[in-house]
Order: sequence, then C-alpha cells, then structure tokens
Amino acid sequence: MDAKELDDIEVALFIQAMQRRHGYDFSQYAPASLKRRVQQLADQLQCRTISGLTERMLHEPPLLPRVLDGLTVPASDMFRDPGLFRSLREQVLPMLASYPQINIWQAGCAHGQEVYSLAILLEETGLYERTQIFATDLSERALRQAEEGIYPAREAQQWSRNYQASGGTCSLADYYSARYNLIKLDQRLRRNVTFAQHNLVSDGVFCEAHLILCRNVMIYFSNVLQDRVLALFRDSLVRGGFLCLGLRESLDYAANAASLAPFDERLRIFRLASQAERKAP
Ligand SMILES: C[S@@+](CC[C@H](N)C(=O)[O-])C[C@H]1O[C@@H](n2cnc3c(N)ncnc32)[C@H](O)[C@@H]1O
Repeated sequence: MDAKELDDIEVALFIQAMQRRHGYDFSQYAPASLKRRVQQLADQLQCRTISGLTERMLHEPPLLPRVLDGLTVPASDMFRDPGLFRSLREQVLPMLASYPQINIWQAGCAHGQEVYSLAILLEETGLYERTQIFATDLSERALRQAEEGIYPAREAQQWSRNYQASGGTCSLADYYSARYNLIKLDQRLRRNVTFAQHNLVSDGVFCEAHLILCRNVMIYFSNVLQDRVLALFRDSLVRGGFLCLGLRESLDYAANAASLAPFDERLRIFRLASQAERKAP
C-alpha cells in the first residue's frame, strides 16, 4: 500500500471519528480539498500523522473549535466582489423594497464581514429598519468573532476600496472606530442581525427569506451535498426571492436548481421562479 492510500484511510477514519465524537458530518465535502485541510491541520497542531490528529480530536474536546476552523476556512472580506454588492444595491434591493418586512439569510457568514457589508448597504438604501438579517455559520467560534465585529486595521484600506467600488455613498471609516491596530465596526449595524449556529449539512430551513447569500461555502461541498443544500435554499426562499452564490460556484450540475433562474449569471445571482413560472410547461 502506498502513502496516498494510507492517507486516504486515515482521512476516512478522521471523518468518521469527527461525526461519532462531535456530531459534525464532513463525509460529503469535496474530498481533495478536505484532505488538504486535514493534512494542514495535522501539521499546524504538530501531529506526526492524521491518525495523531484523530487521537487528539477524540480525547481533547477543547480542541474542537480549532479543528472546525481548520476544516471550514472562515476567511472573508468586506464588500468582497464589489460588483455583487453594487448589483444588490442597484438591482436586487430596489426589487425587494416593496415588501413591508425583508428577511435576509446569510449562510456561512464566517467572521461577519459580509454581514456588516450588507447592513451598511441596507442603511444607505433606507431599508435597514424593516430588514432582519439572519447570519449563520457552522462554527460557533466564527460567530462569536462576527458578533464582536473587530478586525485587523490593515484590512481597512482594501475594504474601503471595495466599498467605494460597490457604489458606497459615504466613507467606510464612518462605520468603524480604529484603535491601535484594530478596527471595530459600529455596533448599531448589528441591531437587526441575529447570529445563530446552523449546519447546512444537517439542519433544516432556517427562515422564510427574500434574499439568501451563501458565498464561497458550497465550493467545499461535493455535488451531492451542493444539490441538497440548494433544495434547502429553494424551500427557504419566497417566490421571486434571490440567491447569491460565490463567483466560482455554479448550479450547472444541480438537479434541484430547475426553479432557480439566472438573474445575473456572471455575478451568480439567481431568482426563485414565481408560482406561475413554475407551473409553465
Ligand atoms: C470561505 S468562508 C465564506 C465566508 C463568506 N460567505 C464570504 O464569501 O466571504 C466559508 C464559511 O462557511 C462555513 N461553513 C462550512 N461548512 C458549513 C456548513 N456545513 N454549514 C454552515 N456553514 C458552513 C465555514 O465555517 C466558513 O465560515
């Protein structure tokens, strides 16, 4: 047996142990990238083998948040892909403006950068008072950081550029205070945000949403899991509701995508067909 086969066995055992010990099912994540992350985690935690990592994960419960972070990559940016935020500002939100109450589900919110970006967008378009944002993630540690809204100041320059490119009407600095080498987002931006743990693999519909953002999350999933999660989003959207995916994600191989029509193919914005459109042959 060569080293690669041995690694594959160790990764499979790690995944099984993770599910049985902690209840997190990674069996439907894309195998190549998951294997890479498990290996990286083993290296970072100075485990000689993946089996060594499995042993620590089984016997050291406080290690779990660290393991989850390593497996799920909670990396994000404010106004990441500014074109998407410009389209939300100019195209999508005006179409949602007729609803008396707007629900937005941000699935896989990581450390919250997109949540604060959305809140700023809603403030500037005058819709925030009647919007509720549900920001969810698998990782409780990521959610706690998202709630704090504290980030390294070195990010601020790039994020300001993103904000301007997305059509921002003020200065991003109006929304944070800077201290030493950190910035803290204005906590008023959180007033209509509910942070909650939700696992897209095992949990059900979270809310009835007019807009769902789930960007750069499904890229880590197998096609089968992507399709299941798409069904979850379809069932969570109101008719005519919008779904935004990451720019490298697509619905091409998803059987459950039939009722999701491209609204802006390039920006990966989709729209749930209305009842009438769904009935059409
Ligand atoms: C790369 S970040 C994407 C952050 C943000 N959406 C963006 O595009 O900038 C991926 C996030 O998905 C979360 N995630 C991974 N698997 C998940 C699952 N099964 N359920 C919910 N969130 C998950 C991770 O914890 C991580 O925070």
